[in-house]
Amino acid sequence: VSPTPSRTLVLLAHPRLSASRINAALLGAARDVEGITLHDLYHAYPDGFIDVAAEQQRLLAHDNVVLQFPIQWYAMPALLKHWFDEVLQAGWAYGQDGHALRGKGLFVAATSGGDPEGYGRHAAQFTLAELFRPIEASARYCGMRWLGHAAYGANERINARLPEFAADYRARLAAFTRGDAHPEHDSR
Ligand SMILES: Cc1cc2nc3c(=O)[nH]c(=O)nc-3n(C[C@H](O)[C@H](O)[C@H](O)COP(=O)(O)O)c2cc1C
Repeated sequence: VSPTPSRTLVLLAHPRLSASRINAALLGAARDVEGITLHDLYHAYPDGFIDVAAEQQRLLAHDNVVLQFPIQWYAMPALLKHWFDEVLQAGWAYGQDGHALRGKGLFVAATSGGDPEGYGRHAAQFTLAELFRPIEASARYCGMRWLGHAAYGANERINARLPEFAADYRARLAAFTRGDAHPEHDSR
């Protein structure tokens, strides 16, 4: 039995996309993939006021959600956190009758200042899987399927790595829209 095609929503949150190298390249890759909806939060909400009803409708229309963002202070950018706080409401995303997101997949595509492999060593001390725990916990709280994360970054010669990052991201998104997105049971 071949899996049913899935609709995948990419929520991009980059505070300064005009200065971006990695996210800009990833975005270019995402545009190529059939069945993907791109939604640029900083572009949609330059004043920070989120249209909650529109965001909820958009979520309902998709099977998977990809959060794409540059890591800032070991976390997601502020507008994306604000999006969580505003959009994932009680009685809708969680709590009594809050089943809107149940069964949808959630995946993180993050970019970092240096090599993501360096996390967990050196100054940061924590792995990215550890740093993304609040996102994973939020997904699970809403009954979503946690699909894990991918991270893109390099200490040097970033431009030379961009095609590789773009190809990896494109393949992951294509797998999601094919319907073969497998929940991550243990990302410790
Ligand atoms: C305010 C701020 C905080 C940042 N904090 C981190 C961080 O905690 N960890 C990290 O790896 N990179 C950090 N960075 C670097 C960005 O993650 C990095 O420049 C970005 O992911 C590169 O992607 P881009 O080319 O799409 O901008 C930070 C950047 C800014 C502007």
